[in-house]
Amino acid sequence: MKLLHLLGLAGSLAVANGDRISYDGYKVVRVGAQRDLSVSKIQEQIQATITHVDEWERSDTEITVNLSPSQLAALESLGLSYETMHEDLGRSIAYESRNTPQRRGENEKRQAVDDPSWFESYHAWEDHKTWFEDLHAAYPNNSELVSTGTSYQGRDQFGIHFWGSAGPGVQPAVLWHGTVHAREWISAMVVEYLTLQLLSGYGSNQEVTGFVNSYDFYVFPFVNPDGFVHTQTTDRLWRKNRQPAPCSTNSTCIGRDVNRNWPWMWDANPNGASTDPCSQTYKGAAPADSPEMKGMHSFVDTLRDTQGIKLFIDWHSYSQYLLAPVGYNCTHYVPTLGQHIVMGREVARSIYRVDGVQFVFGPSCAVLYPSTGYSVDYAYEVGGAQWAYLIELRDQGQYGFVLPPELILISAQEQWAGMRTMLRLVDQPFWED
Ligand SMILES: *[C@@H]1O[C@H](CO)[C@@H](O)[C@H](O)[C@H]1NC(C)=O
Ligand SMILES: *[C@@H]1O[C@H](CO)[C@@H](O)[C@H](O)[C@H]1NC(C)=O
Ligand SMILES: *[C@@H]1O[C@H](CO)[C@@H](O)[C@H](O)[C@H]1NC(C)=O
Ligand SMILES: [Zn+2]
Repeated sequence: MKLLHLLGLAGSLAVANGDRISYDGYKVVRVGAQRDLSVSKIQEQIQATITHVDEWERSDTEITVNLSPSQLAALESLGLSYETMHEDLGRSIAYESRNTPQRRGENEKRQAVDDPSWFESYHAWEDHKTWFEDLHAAYPNNSELVSTGTSYQGRDQFGIHFWGSAGPGVQPAVLWHGTVHAREWISAMVVEYLTLQLLSGYGSNQEVTGFVNSYDFYVFPFVNPDGFVHTQTTDRLWRKNRQPAPCSTNSTCIGRDVNRNWPWMWDANPNGASTDPCSQTYKGAAPADSPEMKGMHSFVDTLRDTQGIKLFIDWHSYSQYLLAPVGYNCTHYVPTLGQHIVMGREVARSIYRVDGVQFVFGPSCAVLYPSTGYSVDYAYEVGGAQWAYLIELRDQGQYGFVLPPELILISAQEQWAGMRTMLRLVDQPFWED
């Protein structure tokens, strides 16, 4: 049974409630580096003891993992001390999804697309799709619904394209996408908020009007719709897509990590992704061998060959980073790294001013860890994007992927402050020298 791969240790207490995996009694814990024990040594010990452990985050100073009671006992038997982030993950998940309203039904019965209550809860994939259809319907003259293709299970990878006075397809592109990793629910909510600010401010807010007149925006909230739906029906902590492993691997595990599957420097660094189909960071059997990635990188290629890409952002959670190229090599610095760092600092300051939350900025590999077949690297080095970032949204692990709904709006508002700064700065002449 495939669940076993995911749950690790045999004898785990997880039980299926219907088809849904229960995380009742699971704890999310953070193990800090100790005097004679680095995080990578701790990671090795944990992986050797707990098969396919669900790692949530890792830095130079700590590693965060999600453990069943028996897995926690195994961790304790290693003599590692830890701090508990979720006392009972099942309870946190239940809290996260309480009062999730449906947005389906006839047009006139639906909440207006700019109703702020949308940002008070998380939503089903179908409701997000309706929300985008309604957004286009509210701004029909300067927007269109677009798609990068179809997911493994046949879902539309929908998005919206909008423009200003120059008309469609003329100005350099701003490309934003979210939910490459299925469990990072906050990312779609944030890109929706940003998109709504831009479309609703166009024509009424002078600065926003300037942004929309200067760039052509393309926003894709769900690069991995199958994985996202799976997090809502079956396993809240699913990360990858839902494609079976290649036959050649003889594995029954499911899913490729779509952000290790970009066809650029896919194999550049053995620590940048996994070749094990059961791993959370499985890179696939070949570059771009997932339908989600084929669609996404073809879209980037087309923008490069037509309008050019001014700014690319891949939205993720969590840990509060603004990550610049590159991910594949920790000592390779791109020519515009200095500019990306200064921009990162300015954006981080604007975010901080909203609610006192700090974002760390810098080159992805050096400030985090190696990642190959990685979005910002492709967008920058192949897509020719002048600016490319991967943004890891809130928080720093207190709630991690299971961010309570009351933090959606503030997370989005602080990013809107950051994006206003970024869009103000992308074309400043002082970058030239
Ligand atoms: C869109 O353009 C049409 C035709 O010019 C106009 O009648 C309509 O009011 C416009 N709609 C919006 C929402 O601006
Ligand atoms: C897959 O299984 C077949 C038949 O058991 C075996 O011959 C082959 O070596 C296996 N391939 C891998 C990659 O393990
Ligand atoms: C990283 O880049 C440096 C400098 O360009 C190069 O010397 C080194 O071999 C690269 N490392 C890897 C793992 O590719
Ligand atoms: Zn992610």
